[in-house]
Amino acid sequence: MGVSGCGKSTIGKLLARELDIPFFDGDDFHPESNIKKMSNGQALNDEDRQGWLQTLNNLAIKQLTKNSCVIVCSALKQKYRETLSHTIKEKTKWVHLSGSFEQVLKRLNNREGHFMPAELLKSQFETLETPDEAMKIDIKITPENIIKKIKQELMKTSEFGLFGLGVMGKSLCRNLANNGFKISMFNRHVNDVEVDVAKNFKAEYPELAQAEAYDDIAAFVNSLQQPRRIMLMVNAGKTIDYVIEDLLPHLSKNDIIIDGGNSNYKKTKQRNEYLKTKGIHFIGTGVSGGEEGALKGPSIMPSGDKEAYKKIAPFLETISAKDKNGLPCCTYVGPEGSGQFIKMVHNGVEYVEMQLLAEVATILESLGQNPDAIANTLNNWKATADSYLLEITTAIFQKKEGDDWLVNKILDKAGNKGTGNWTTIASAELGVPSTLIASALFSRYISFYKEERLQLNKLFEKGNTSQLNLTTNEILEAYQFARIINHYQGFKLIAEASNKMDWDLNLSEIARIWTNGCIIRSTLMEELVVVFKQTSNILTNTELINTVIKYKPAAKKVVSQCILNDVATPALAEAIQFLNGITTAYTSANIIQAQRDYFGAHTYQRLDDASGKSHHTNWN
Ligand code: 6PG
Repeated sequence: MGVSGCGKSTIGKLLARELDIPFFDGDDFHPESNIKKMSNGQALNDEDRQGWLQTLNNLAIKQLTKNSCVIVCSALKQKYRETLSHTIKEKTKWVHLSGSFEQVLKRLNNREGHFMPAELLKSQFETLETPDEAMKIDIKITPENIIKKIKQELMKTSEFGLFGLGVMGKSLCRNLANNGFKISMFNRHVNDVEVDVAKNFKAEYPELAQAEAYDDIAAFVNSLQQPRRIMLMVNAGKTIDYVIEDLLPHLSKNDIIIDGGNSNYKKTKQRNEYLKTKGIHFIGTGVSGGEEGALKGPSIMPSGDKEAYKKIAPFLETISAKDKNGLPCCTYVGPEGSGQFIKMVHNGVEYVEMQLLAEVATILESLGQNPDAIANTLNNWKATADSYLLEITTAIFQKKEGDDWLVNKILDKAGNKGTGNWTTIASAELGVPSTLIASALFSRYISFYKEERLQLNKLFEKGNTSQLNLTTNEILEAYQFARIINHYQGFKLIAEASNKMDWDLNLSEIARIWTNGCIIRSTLMEELVVVFKQTSNILTNTELINTVIKYKPAAKKVVSQCILNDVATPALAEAIQFLNGITTAYTSANIIQAQRDYFGAHTYQRLDDASGKSHHTNWN
């Protein structure tokens, strides 16, 4: 905006080109009647202008549904500007090109074929109501510098938005701010329950001094540069859909929503497709590492549209953990919900790793070790089987409350938020035998039947654990054996999903981004980065095959002794059962086929008929 001759069209065009958005000259939108009046040398009155300003307002609204635009218009009076920005006030940025009367007159006189009587210009200056809300730019400076200045002012808006300030959302905000990003933070307002959450959070941490805090969605969205990048850190499930609907009216074409929660990968695919129809990109992203990881560097698993990912990569890759070579533990995983799929499998593997540690600790306890001694044993295992979960479990066994260990005071009912459940469902749907994940999940479910366990414990006599004849090294070997089988199954599930869904996932890269920041980081994972460069199947790698062969005797001994003495070790046992199954050349499935054919005429194939033809027998 500005009086005639201030350079609106030149600057507007340059700015539009620089921002890669459309340019519109307001004068091109006058109705026939106005054009006639002006060409007769008559001045327009406010009534004449009203319809024209509304046309420009409609144009702006329409453009905002796609992206943005630059419109030039003198817009001298406040009421004109109100009409121009009607319903889009928060999205409108006014740039006032301002100069002195003499300056503008001189410019106008220098323009070829453009004459404006001084009187008319004077009346424009008299009409001009200087806007408070506008960026005021002195026209003395060069057009290039004007553009630079406008861009700088526009940049004052935030680069990245974080929606939902729970534990993970807050940590990610601090991580982004610590890395120098200008962010906007949003948390909803719920009377008496969630009040000024964002504002109070900002006040709490000095690194958030430059961050913007909101509890109003429109203001939050409008504080962001376009295309907007908004990361949702809200509860997975229906809430994501509600939040998307709340955001949509305020978004523009090409804006990007990132879902950083543990969402179901199928839902992510649906949301992706839905938002595509609205011109919005949706990036489903696994984030692992808990509160501390989110703050100091999580492992991040984004998926969806690759071009949209490029626009958020600088943020996610900067805040992520780094691998041993300094590369970000964040990589574009693949299309659709593949990022959330691998995060789901990550959690399945996590369930098993946790269960295995719980089982070996129980065996150590049965051997008479107290929590300090267990911690000591686990600590010694660091040298050969280091992992984040081993480290935290060691620390857990060291923690005392008064004279007793805290771990002994915790109710033995394991919770879950559903990802282990989904992994088990996904493996059943895809026809992949992820038996350890199912076993770890069902162990949690068994733990939930506390009352029944107490009752049955009285009815069923238990073996005497003092009969256990095991060394800690045998237990360590059994543990390492089961961990390899666990990782075999987890990555098998990912590989099969990738094939079936045409995702083209890179297993080595997935293992690499799981070497730091995430819950299942370990030295084994480091080894797998190399292994997956050669093969997509762990049990084709000679070194790992040899390790499994080496540790299997210990695993058999540990599991059989536990069975003989009634110590529950479902995951350790399942690791052996699975290996026995997958390494059996001729399984008992022939009998199953015969039974199916017997009662249901389901037919079977014969070993002595290479054609693969179906056979049926009248078994009576
Ligand atoms: C992670 C964790 C994280 C979380 C899960 C645990 O990678 O940071 O897996 O996602 O701890 O919610 O799931 P359960 O509550 O089901 O154990």
